[in-house]
Amino acid sequence: MKNPPVVAVLADVHGNSQALKACLDYAGRRRATHYLFLGDYITDHAYPQRVMEQLYKMERRCNCRFVRGNREDYMVNYQRNGGRQPDGSVWKEGSCQGALLYCYENLTPEDIRWFKSLPVYALWQIGGAPPLACCHGSPESTKGPMRGQPGTWESLEKVEADLLVKGHNHKHFCLGYRGKRIVCAGSVGNPCCRRARPGLSQPSEYAKMAQMVFLHLEGERWKPEYALVPYDWQETVQNLRTSGLARRAPVWAAMLRHNVLTGTDPFGSVPARAVELYRNASGVEEDWANVPEDYWRQAAGEFGIDLEW
Ligand SMILES: [Fe+2]
Ligand SMILES: [Fe+2]
Repeated sequence: MKNPPVVAVLADVHGNSQALKACLDYAGRRRATHYLFLGDYITDHAYPQRVMEQLYKMERRCNCRFVRGNREDYMVNYQRNGGRQPDGSVWKEGSCQGALLYCYENLTPEDIRWFKSLPVYALWQIGGAPPLACCHGSPESTKGPMRGQPGTWESLEKVEADLLVKGHNHKHFCLGYRGKRIVCAGSVGNPCCRRARPGLSQPSEYAKMAQMVFLHLEGERWKPEYALVPYDWQETVQNLRTSGLARRAPVWAAMLRHNVLTGTDPFGSVPARAVELYRNASGVEEDWANVPEDYWRQAAGEFGIDLEW
């Protein structure tokens, strides 16, 4: 091929518009010819509308494909239920659902229509290159983990391409099975290399960085290049305050800041610990949404998350 394609792959922006901007600028400098966006564009970080503007601009100007993530599903389903969850309850202010509620309030009906129009799974044929299969979680579900657990290889065998590119795991990785590969593009907005641990976490190499992948065509095979991109993380952290998110979802915002500063993942540990602390104190097993804020604060403190920033 005379001018071989270079595909920029971006997953899991999670509302971090500063990280997205840095990745798109970097991809431009690297002369990306195609852009693949793998879902979870919104929720978590502040000002989701700034991410939507960047996506729409890319859609108008560049050769792009988009698939839907589970976070877009949350928004679509909530709207479909008339602003309610399946059980009829509404998202509440606080560290469990405050960030979801904030995001929902900042999206337009057009944004939700656009999410609905996106496929869960797509095949992209770029010129004469081997087709690229793409999804957020798995080809069947926006939440499919596909990290080698039961069902991963059966699902991969059904894919009509040798390479499946995905998001959702917030980590760079590549898995192979019978000549086929799964490449995870990491996360633009919330990269994680390991779970946060009780006590002070050591920052990882993903601290203050965005993750993305470039796909280069070498002969008849796509070759992934895993990239870490510096971005204006101070602005991202500051936006948690200026947007009101730090007030509406205090511990969640502090966890987001912790994730930005350390590159570690408190989201898989702190809420579960808050549930446990509340159960120990009250004898009642509650869902995250019903655990009082004090227990969230206590759990976050155990993991060295600064609540007084
Ligand atoms: Fe995600
Ligand atoms: Fe996801």
